[in-house]
Amino acid sequence: MRKHRIAAIPGDGIGKEVVAAGVEALTALAALDGGFELEFEHFDWGSDYYKRTGLMMPADGLEKLKPFDAIYFGSVGAPDLPDHITLWGLRLAICQPFDQYANVRPTRILAGIDSPLRNAGVGDLDWVIVRENTEGEYAGQGGRSHRGHPEEVATEVAIFTRAGVRRIMRFAFRTAQARPRKFLTVVTKSNAQRNGLVMWDEIAAEVAKEFPDVTWDKMLVDAMTVRMTMKPRSLDTIVATNLHADILSDLAAALAGSMGIAPTANLNPERQFPSMFEPIHGSAFDITGMGIANPIGTFWSGQMMLEHLGEQAAADRLMRAIETVAANKTLHTPDLGGNARTVDVTAGLIAAL
Ligand code: IPM
Ligand code: MG
Repeated sequence: MRKHRIAAIPGDGIGKEVVAAGVEALTALAALDGGFELEFEHFDWGSDYYKRTGLMMPADGLEKLKPFDAIYFGSVGAPDLPDHITLWGLRLAICQPFDQYANVRPTRILAGIDSPLRNAGVGDLDWVIVRENTEGEYAGQGGRSHRGHPEEVATEVAIFTRAGVRRIMRFAFRTAQARPRKFLTVVTKSNAQRNGLVMWDEIAAEVAKEFPDVTWDKMLVDAMTVRMTMKPRSLDTIVATNLHADILSDLAAALAGSMGIAPTANLNPERQFPSMFEPIHGSAFDITGMGIANPIGTFWSGQMMLEHLGEQAAADRLMRAIETVAANKTLHTPDLGGNARTVDVTAGLIAAL
């Protein structure tokens, strides 16, 4: 029997609720499949841990995570702690050292779920956003001087390395190549950001030569929001910088019907370190503890995790079950306009499996 060891980090807010649902669903799936076993170990890291210890995760946290085959993550952020502390203390503290440079965000309108786009339905929006996940605007370079004085200055420097851009570009072209349309849109803002993003465009053109069967085009990020909204069918695979893709992926999730559905994979494609799988929604303080969080984004992230672990048949089975649940309006949580609870969706998913 194949065995995969998974580190579960529910984190904060509804992360705890949706990861519990995800672990239950994946455990049921493994039992039904019979060919593999998932061994979960839970880590109570996050804001509560910070309030007790002054750290979001222990100093040897990365050492603890290293032996796992994957990380199943909930969300991070608490209303009474600054967001940059919680983010840099846990999520980025894992993504960056584990070199999870490829952040993959699939978006589709699932049958049964209404898009806010007029006349858009199943098949009209089927995208994979590839987000550079280790540098760019999230590189953490910069500082503050003259703190608190009128002349205070703060810098926030985006870092683009040739190696970093080339590897995400190759990953994006490979992703596009593996999809039926073999079509990639490269997003930049190289009209205004005339250094890093001009290099980004140049590297895109170089890497494109390695993929003659992939068609590609370029978009400026502002115009991209218009194209996503007005011509969703004209897009397939999309690659963008860390910040640009962060913003575009929220738009994508909203256009597909809800932030509660969208999954993400933080991949270290070379598998030197574990990769991390999480829903893209945050900790959602407004609904924390109410039992109404939508677990679909976490189930779908679990599906991506199974694919990464080589359990393709189980991943496909899970995706079909997610589609069955999405199509059933009695299993819609409030973010989708229904009144189902997290436990109802989880039970529905397991029944569909
Ligand atoms: C995301 C989130 C995070 C990000 C937040 C929680 C810092 O918005 O995964 O898209 O900006 O990377
Ligand atoms: Mg985001």
